[in-house]
Amino acid sequence: MEINQEKLVEVLKTIQYPPKNSDIVTLGMIKDLKVEENKITLSVVFDSFNNPHEKAIKEEVVRKFKEAFGDDIEVHVRAIGKVNVDKVKNLKNAGQVVNQSLLKNVKHIITVSSGKGGVGKSTVSVNLAIALAKTGASVGLLDADMYGPSVPRMLDLEGARPLGRKVNGKDMIAPIERFGVQVISIGFFVKKEDAIIWRGSMVTNALKQLITDVDWGELDYLIIDAPPGTGDVQLTIAQYLKGSKGIVVTTPQEVALNDVRRAVNMFRAKGVEIPVLGVIENMSWFECEEVKGKKYYIFGKGGGRKLSDEVNIPLLGEIPILEEIMEDGDKGLPTALDDDTPQGKAFNKLAENVINELKKYE
Ligand SMILES: Nc1ncnc2c1ncn2[C@@H]1O[C@H](COP(=O)(O)OP(=O)(O)OP(=O)(O)O)[C@@H](O)[C@H]1O
Ligand SMILES: [Mg+2]
Repeated sequence: MEINQEKLVEVLKTIQYPPKNSDIVTLGMIKDLKVEENKITLSVVFDSFNNPHEKAIKEEVVRKFKEAFGDDIEVHVRAIGKVNVDKVKNLKNAGQVVNQSLLKNVKHIITVSSGKGGVGKSTVSVNLAIALAKTGASVGLLDADMYGPSVPRMLDLEGARPLGRKVNGKDMIAPIERFGVQVISIGFFVKKEDAIIWRGSMVTNALKQLITDVDWGELDYLIIDAPPGTGDVQLTIAQYLKGSKGIVVTTPQEVALNDVRRAVNMFRAKGVEIPVLGVIENMSWFECEEVKGKKYYIFGKGGGRKLSDEVNIPLLGEIPILEEIMEDGDKGLPTALDDDTPQGKAFNKLAENVINELKKYE
């Protein structure tokens, strides 16, 4: 059956949002509704973060689409909570310094982006930061995903609040050190239940503040975990942090090429012009417990390589799809801490490749 937007909207209209006694389409709660082959993606916007109806509505969306279009249909629903305006106002007095390169004591700044959400940006950012720190480098990690900061959970820092510190008479925020990495997340400042629909200007201002008001000190590498699919972060970084580089995370499926193109275009856009160090293919291959060392390329082999050739940027690494990576992320113990696992080795290799790529710019 051909699935088109109209049919999707028809199905969504049958889903009620109980507090408002109306359906989620009429209430304007649907965003970014898309269908590609047998995959439907959409965001549902709630009037608060961690809304009590979030889970039930997400489940209902999946169930109703499967009822309408069959079990083979893949449905990705993202729940977004609305911003608490007062909180954001506080973030609005961001650093006013324009066109000046900040963070002069940071040697390399790397923004991790992707064309679409959920491909593993945060997982890659956290584990790349750890793998770089293991080489003895001083590393910072800035979680700039205003729409859903996941670094606090991945580093078991939920609820953590950074301390203030005076630097040259100015009040600065001190990053929190975790596993040898200096960490700042937008999640340290905005409570889960208060977040988050950010307009472009809010993202820009909050990010500026995280850059200007945090005492990062001397760093070899600052990794920035960007929110999915926005050019605002890239533009802000280009304006405030000269000489930064980008990395694009993707998954191996055929359809990923367009996402990579989009992400690369964000970095290459006029006014941004950030060099892209390369592509990371996440969820590349699978290695089962029983047959250690044998790699199963469940989504096809060599996609990342082909892709990197097509967009003419290096393939920096291939990260396996493994339950442990997800579990370690949920536990707050990054998987790259362990050198002896396939995933630990993959992240070490990734760090090595990133270091080598950066040398080309020195
Ligand atoms: N290689 C992997 N193997 C298994 N699970 C993975 C892998 N990479 C990421 N995941 C899991 O997939 C989910 C999405 O990953 P992650 O949060 O890193 O993606 P993201 O691109 O940052 O998402 P968002 O766009 O929402 O910020 C998480 O639950 C994570 O643990
Ligand atoms: Mg993320």
